[in-house]
Amino acid sequence: MAFDPLQERGIPLEKQWRNWSELNSKPYDSHNVEPHTRVRLLILDAMESESFRFSHQFSRHSTNPEIRRALALTRRIELQQKNVIHNLIPAEESNLALAIGQEQMAVALTAFLAQTESNVEIRQALEFGLLEELDHLYRFSNLWDLIDGKKATELTGPFTEITVGRPTSEQHRHPYDTLPNPSLTASDNAVAQLHLLTLAATEMQTMDYYLTISNRPIEPLARGLYLEIAQIEEQHITQYESFLDPNLSLLQQEVLHHYNECYLYYSFLLQEPDLRLRQLFELHLNMEIGHLEAATGWSQSGLEISFQCLPDSRQYAVCKWSGFCPREWFLAVQ
Ligand SMILES: [Fe+2]
Ligand SMILES: [Fe+2]
Ligand SMILES: [Fe+2]
Ligand SMILES: [Fe+2]
Repeated sequence: MAFDPLQERGIPLEKQWRNWSELNSKPYDSHNVEPHTRVRLLILDAMESESFRFSHQFSRHSTNPEIRRALALTRRIELQQKNVIHNLIPAEESNLALAIGQEQMAVALTAFLAQTESNVEIRQALEFGLLEELDHLYRFSNLWDLIDGKKATELTGPFTEITVGRPTSEQHRHPYDTLPNPSLTASDNAVAQLHLLTLAATEMQTMDYYLTISNRPIEPLARGLYLEIAQIEEQHITQYESFLDPNLSLLQQEVLHHYNECYLYYSFLLQEPDLRLRQLFELHLNMEIGHLEAATGWSQSGLEISFQCLPDSRQYAVCKWSGFCPREWFLAVQ
């Protein structure tokens, strides 16, 4: 039976507030965490940021005070969700360890999306990007070995191959060459739009992260590597976001963001082996259904919206929501 968040009842927005201690979540145990739990959390961390940043852009372009108030309310809840997800990452994971986590996420997500993508143009872009992510993972892994004498497989487990990809020195392109010529609209392939939105969000998070920490290490080699790879992540953001349908209205895009968050929390809820995190994903799923309900309700207050940009339930059956990341990546769900 397909899951359709538009048919579900979520938590009303006014009941979504959490107190300070609930926001300051207890980090996971980095010695026992399942490597793909870390990947899932990094994807969710990125998507929460994407949602509240998009909400700011929407608000700046809206002249409707009611919509601005509604956006401000939902956006603050998004930030609370972000706080909870973000603080699950333990301090004992060094900046470099977290960079390896970001690149494992990029390799795993890009590879999975390439395998499931039916559109040739998008698939080629994903395969092209994958070769670059592999080299990033390889280079940060070598740096960790060099600086701290540690092996990246301690973090990545047996799931992600650490091997040379397209050499990073050959990845730098003219900005015009990072723009594909997409021929798709959201209603042609709504599931691909969700996937590309997620991927663009993760690339943005990775670039921001490298830009933030590039001046933290003492070693010039590490400082140089962060800034060099940040430049490539900018190329990746441009490449993937170019496939997003530019004809969607801001309200349609707002709906798409919450819908995508539902898609991710539902998928990860089915895959997550850690009971505490499963409960958190379920809570956030119910909150996201509430966001979706609220945003779709705005369309009844004078704003036109077409839901053709969302996948219909037949597409859920094809893409098997829970198949967002293949089950075999993960421990069996209890
Ligand atoms: Fe959210
Ligand atoms: Fe990367
Ligand atoms: Fe990337
Ligand atoms: Fe949301």
